[in-house]
Amino acid sequence: MSKTAILEIDGKKYEFPVIKGSENEEAININKLRDLTGAITIDPGYKNSGSCTSGITFLDGELGILRYRGYAIEDLADNANFLEVSYLLIFGELPTAAQLQQFETDIRKHSLVNEEMKGIIDGFPKTAHPMGVLAALTSALTAFNPKSVNVENEKELYQAVCKTMGKFLVIATWTYRKSMGYPLNYYDNTKGYVENFMNLMFALPTEPYKLSSVVTEALDKLFILHADHEQNCSTSTVRMVGSSHAGLFASISAGVSALWGPLHGGANQAVLEMLEEIHQNGGDTEKYLAKAKDKNDPFRLMGFGHRVYKNFDPRAKIIKKAANEVLGTLGVDDPILEIAKKLEAAALEDEYFKARNLYPNVDFYSGIIYRALGIPTDMFTVMFAIGRLPGWIAQWKEMRENKEPIGRPRQVYTGSPLREFKKPV
Ligand code: SDX
Repeated sequence: MSKTAILEIDGKKYEFPVIKGSENEEAININKLRDLTGAITIDPGYKNSGSCTSGITFLDGELGILRYRGYAIEDLADNANFLEVSYLLIFGELPTAAQLQQFETDIRKHSLVNEEMKGIIDGFPKTAHPMGVLAALTSALTAFNPKSVNVENEKELYQAVCKTMGKFLVIATWTYRKSMGYPLNYYDNTKGYVENFMNLMFALPTEPYKLSSVVTEALDKLFILHADHEQNCSTSTVRMVGSSHAGLFASISAGVSALWGPLHGGANQAVLEMLEEIHQNGGDTEKYLAKAKDKNDPFRLMGFGHRVYKNFDPRAKIIKKAANEVLGTLGVDDPILEIAKKLEAAALEDEYFKARNLYPNVDFYSGIIYRALGIPTDMFTVMFAIGRLPGWIAQWKEMRENKEPIGRPRQVYTGSPLREFKKPV
């Protein structure tokens, strides 16, 4: 017998079906609510509202669980590489060795970016934030790939996926190269995906570039940890834009803009800036904890808290361990890491943070590793976008394949009642 929910308005009772997910999450299906009652629900920030059903990522915020297509994030981070996880998220199953090799080959085939794109990036000042440049370049890819994706055509959809994976990585690194005044590099088909990222970012024509396996392995793991996270702000944006049947590049471009915000992916840059400020203030973590708790102070402890995790973000645990390993292996002694650990320990003991279930999230330690790898701070959120790309693609693909309706929330109007038009004197 399926469960139902009863709603009573003005003495009249209405019954709505309750659906159950594969991990026993329950949701009241209110798609007949307005027809039956004339009323709608309201839930700013969608803290209690589901926008869709999805088979891609499961997370349990109370237990600190994160799984991609049923695989625990800890297992994937220890045993898979980023392209394997990308394939899993997008196509639903881990690739065989042959499928993985074909995927990597097909991404290479589509990694060349139209030379005319350089004219677009030349229009930006060197001081432009890389996320703004990346959003613009991603949208501009539509101009060179105008054919919209026929999602019913498997071959076309697969090609669009490979194009996006290949070209996005290149243009993401171009944002850095442009800011440094370096020549723009091309994807090297003899190298792996993550190796290409480092090569695209740092190889100079004047000397051979030496790749470090410690660096590429750490980055591969970081990209995996960022690859998807169910209906977060930027992914919901990609689904919303895609629901109007806007193209994949246009939808991803919107996701880049949403991720840029300091409350979302921009937090990894904000964390480093916060830790550097604390360092410059003599490492006075107590002063900054007090600021974070002071309601009259807009300061928030960046990298702490999460809309869903009311326990440790499982990704933060893995990244914290990786930070110790990578800095140790590279022989980097960064005082910022010690400040981060001191801040975390103090916050975890503090009543304000405990009462609000505020724990370190994915952004708290990631920037410390990026910095040790030589990635500049304003590129940290671009790193997040590179990692999140397969998740955005997977969610866009699922939304289109499920033929979901165009997203169009309702509202409760609180403005002026009807008034006669009279020009103000
Ligand atoms: C990401 O959704 C995702 O999955 C996102 C993400 C992904 O993978 O896509 O996980 C990536 O965006 C991680 C979050 C990165 N952002 C930050 O680290 C910025 C700092 N954190 C916050 O601003 C905040 O915690 C949010 C935005 C992450 C979550 O905010 P919510 O769920 O809307 O919670 P809230 O703002 O309503 O806060 C609840 C209470 C408030 O206090 P009271 O009004 O109850 O007294 O907690 C307080 C807040 O003031 N609070 C904080 C705090 N975060 C929340 N106080 C101090 N420092 C903080 N960081």
